[in-house]
Amino acid sequence: MPKIGVIISTTRDTRFGDKVAEWFMSLANERSDLQFELVDLRDYPLPFFNEKSSNLYMPTENAEGQRWQKKVGEFDGYVIVTAEYNHAPSAVLKNALDYAYVEWVRKPVAFVGYGAVGAARAVEQLRQIAVELQMAPIRSAVHIQGGDFMQVYMGEKKLEDLTYLPPLVTSMLDDLVWWANALKTARESQSSAK
Ligand SMILES: Cc1cc2nc3c(=O)[nH]c(=O)nc-3n(C[C@H](O)[C@H](O)[C@H](O)COP(=O)(O)O)c2cc1C
Repeated sequence: MPKIGVIISTTRDTRFGDKVAEWFMSLANERSDLQFELVDLRDYPLPFFNEKSSNLYMPTENAEGQRWQKKVGEFDGYVIVTAEYNHAPSAVLKNALDYAYVEWVRKPVAFVGYGAVGAARAVEQLRQIAVELQMAPIRSAVHIQGGDFMQVYMGEKKLEDLTYLPPLVTSMLDDLVWWANALKTARESQSSAK
């Protein structure tokens, strides 16, 4: 079964991202065709990237960077839970994406965004970054936005109250499982052919 890393991509002390990730995990764990693991960037305190090169060209020297690469490499695909900071992904997430390369290649990535416009602008940027990392960004996404986001953020509503969201999670994961299986098979057939 494909193993999917669900990445919490903000780390500030008062972040909201972990609440979204936990809600997502409760739905994702109902599936029998994918296996999920929560990966919190707080648990990987990477320094700002200061390597001689991306690990596409040269091994990473920083020990925390190596530990992060090892974790990224365990998965067949990813769901990035993302906020939008000034219409972009968080700097912490971009740094973490830069801190690996070979581990991301030929794997699918899907997005759960939250914010005024459901982090749509950050997700579009992440899709571009994913292509450069030779990933397959999934079309379907989950965007928690507008008044609903604000009400949940202010504690006036729960994510569970937004009953239109679970079908969106299902569509996104249906897409993700197709790509995860297809690319896993392709990666494995390529390595056995060597
Ligand atoms: C530096 C900064 C920039 C932000 N820029 C945006 C933005 O461009 N669009 C948006 O919808 N929300 C923006 N917000 C509000 C975030 O959507 C909100 O704070 C959200 O909870 C951030 O995710 P986090 O709590 O997981 O850090 C910004 C917040 C911060 C801290």
